[in-house]
Amino acid sequence: MIVCLLTGATSISLSAQNNAAQAIVSKMTLEEKVNLVVGMGMKLPGANQGNGTGIGQIEDKVPGAAGTTFAIPHLGIPATVVADGPAGLRISPTRKDDKNTYYATAWPVATLLASTWDTKLVTQVGKAMGNEVKEYGVDVILGPGLNIQRNPLGGRNFEYYSEDPLVAGKMAAAMVKGIQSNGVGTSIKHFAANNQERNRNTVNANISERALREIYLKGFEIAVKESNPWTVMSSYNKLNGTYTSEEYDLLTTILRKEWGFKGMVMTDWFGGKDAVAQMKAGNDLLMPGTADQKKAITDAVNNGTLSIKIVDENAARIVNYILGSPANKKYAFTNRPDLKAHAVIARNAAAEGMVLLKNNTHTLPIAATTKNIAAFGITSYDFISGGTGSGDINEAYTISLVQGLSNAGYKLDEDISKAYQNYVSAEKAKQPKKNFFEEFFNPTARITEMAIEDNLFIAKAATDDIALITIGRNAGEGSDRKVENDFNLKADELKLITDVSNAFHAKNKKVVVIINAGGVIETVSWRDKVDAILLTWQPGLEAGNAVADVLSGKVNPSGKLAATFPGKYEDDITVKNFPGKEFPEQASKGMFGMPQIPAEVTYEEGIYVGYRYYNSFNVKPAYEFGYGLSYTNFEYHNLKLNSTSFNGKIIATVDIKNTGTVAGKEVVQLYITAPANKLQKPAEELKAFGKTNLLQPGQQKTLQFEITAKDIASFDTPSSSWVAEAGMYTVKIGASSENILQKISFSLGKELMVEKCHKVLLPQIEINELKK
Ligand code: BGC
Repeated sequence: MIVCLLTGATSISLSAQNNAAQAIVSKMTLEEKVNLVVGMGMKLPGANQGNGTGIGQIEDKVPGAAGTTFAIPHLGIPATVVADGPAGLRISPTRKDDKNTYYATAWPVATLLASTWDTKLVTQVGKAMGNEVKEYGVDVILGPGLNIQRNPLGGRNFEYYSEDPLVAGKMAAAMVKGIQSNGVGTSIKHFAANNQERNRNTVNANISERALREIYLKGFEIAVKESNPWTVMSSYNKLNGTYTSEEYDLLTTILRKEWGFKGMVMTDWFGGKDAVAQMKAGNDLLMPGTADQKKAITDAVNNGTLSIKIVDENAARIVNYILGSPANKKYAFTNRPDLKAHAVIARNAAAEGMVLLKNNTHTLPIAATTKNIAAFGITSYDFISGGTGSGDINEAYTISLVQGLSNAGYKLDEDISKAYQNYVSAEKAKQPKKNFFEEFFNPTARITEMAIEDNLFIAKAATDDIALITIGRNAGEGSDRKVENDFNLKADELKLITDVSNAFHAKNKKVVVIINAGGVIETVSWRDKVDAILLTWQPGLEAGNAVADVLSGKVNPSGKLAATFPGKYEDDITVKNFPGKEFPEQASKGMFGMPQIPAEVTYEEGIYVGYRYYNSFNVKPAYEFGYGLSYTNFEYHNLKLNSTSFNGKIIATVDIKNTGTVAGKEVVQLYITAPANKLQKPAEELKAFGKTNLLQPGQQKTLQFEITAKDIASFDTPSSSWVAEAGMYTVKIGASSENILQKISFSLGKELMVEKCHKVLLPQIEINELKK
């Protein structure tokens, strides 16, 4: 039995670097300590513009970065720079009085990366992303983000990996390993339960201990334990009554004592309210940092309400991070990462994470001999590389779908292309020019679809060989998506799909829909009208080239969904409690005069999030978790366990054979159905996954999975422990969460208490949780 209570441990273990950090802190004045635990500010109205002294004030070390830590030159402490994250390095592409450019790679968004189910590939992306961080003189990238995609409308779902914590945790760990292999840091975010944007600075999420441990903390636990991120970013929201950045039990009891996190915690930008409580909770660095926070901390130390020992510990953890940073090592960054080489990696990763949702009668791939492709939909010409807000990247270019197709040698219908290109540029020219903050608070809507006369559809169906229609969606921090005209298609989009399909089908020609979105959308009402659907997510700067790779068959699609596509929005169980209740009568003014509306959200669905709900309650989604088609077929054979009874761990092996006619890769998922005598259990839970290498037709590969005691355990609230119940466990190997192809069982003779935890973070209200 592993016990995660570390008796009497109040501070992190001391390494040599830690000792050095403490020695440096012991030489600091109170003012220096306070300067260090509060960031240097940000160039924003209302925020501190530095500490006012000029000493160590180097806000613009890397223009466009999100923040800087304070330098204390006489102690050898340099300023360090942190920048967003998570789909690449977010810095300004141009600088005043400087002819050089500083573009970064816009990588495929997290949702796409998760759909590759390929942790090695994600590490490779991380390595290249981290290289840009290092070569542009940044010390920490503010990512990856791994909140749970709890509801289909989550505005930042594109920045997160999955509705499932195992996928989220494994992907984040893979990303952290890749980025940090460069000697730069990551900040896994937003810790924790930041699963909506609406009222994100005020909302209190009421969550049961079990749902917290199994769903909302689990991914962070995996990432911390498997990849040692340098830093963690606390979230904006309250969790069971307290701001996460002020919650000792989250940041110290669980993160540090239970999981062994050794790094530094920073707030989200302007997150939380009480700087002194944040210090006490173990939230070491307050970002971006304000003069008020400095005053509050200084006053509290002086009047004895905040022990200097706590500030010393916070400061030591920051110094510890700084000592390991490229800034401290005086790394001579080049400002010249190999963007060309990275674009190749981005294109490859993008193609690997696209999901083929439908492909009737071999509509795809599109034969090289196809003459005229009719590309409809404004998004075919204005493809979306990634989401908005701080998760947006300043890339040099985005390859559109039509550019990608023509690069691949396809011929596009020129009349249609020209008409769309003219329309898109004219409409875009009409849009107001906004800076980042204007856009942040008042996002520009995407232009409407171009009106097309019926005759044209008919004429083009006669001359063109195939029609493509791209549906585009974008979202980002600050607000959630909407049901109408966003999750559901707009009337003009539905009309376009209907008109194109009618005209092309009348001539026996195929119609393909391409979904270019960061999150899920409605498909049931229109999918029968078209022959194939390719979900490209938001694939980064090489978008169109990667889509063309899949459409042409150069890459056989192997992505599978890490998020359920609900039949209709209302089918999702979280809808009852999203985005929660608001109390506008209690509104106050927040940052930039924005109204701060107190809000509450109660996660009444408990552990039944995503496929855990759909499978357990027999609700049929449009496309289930784990689903995705290929241009070939696979057979699953010969599932074996190394033992029929559980003895510390179980090894499962299964043979996967390519029985089709083209080479392909298969994502294989291992679910477990556990005995449910004492605790509720979802019908199935993902416990492991793997992906074959490229299998040639007829080729076979054996995949192996390891299942540990923690994997089969559930969180038992009364005893605050992870417990595996005695009984029979069914191992289910599936091509998706619904398509289970092989089953086998093992037994556990006696209940196992796998890990004992602290009884903390209790909900402050009674939660009427969903039960089977
Ligand atoms: C976002 C963070 C981001 C930070 C710095 C905040 O608004 O929530 O994810 O890292 O800004 O840009």
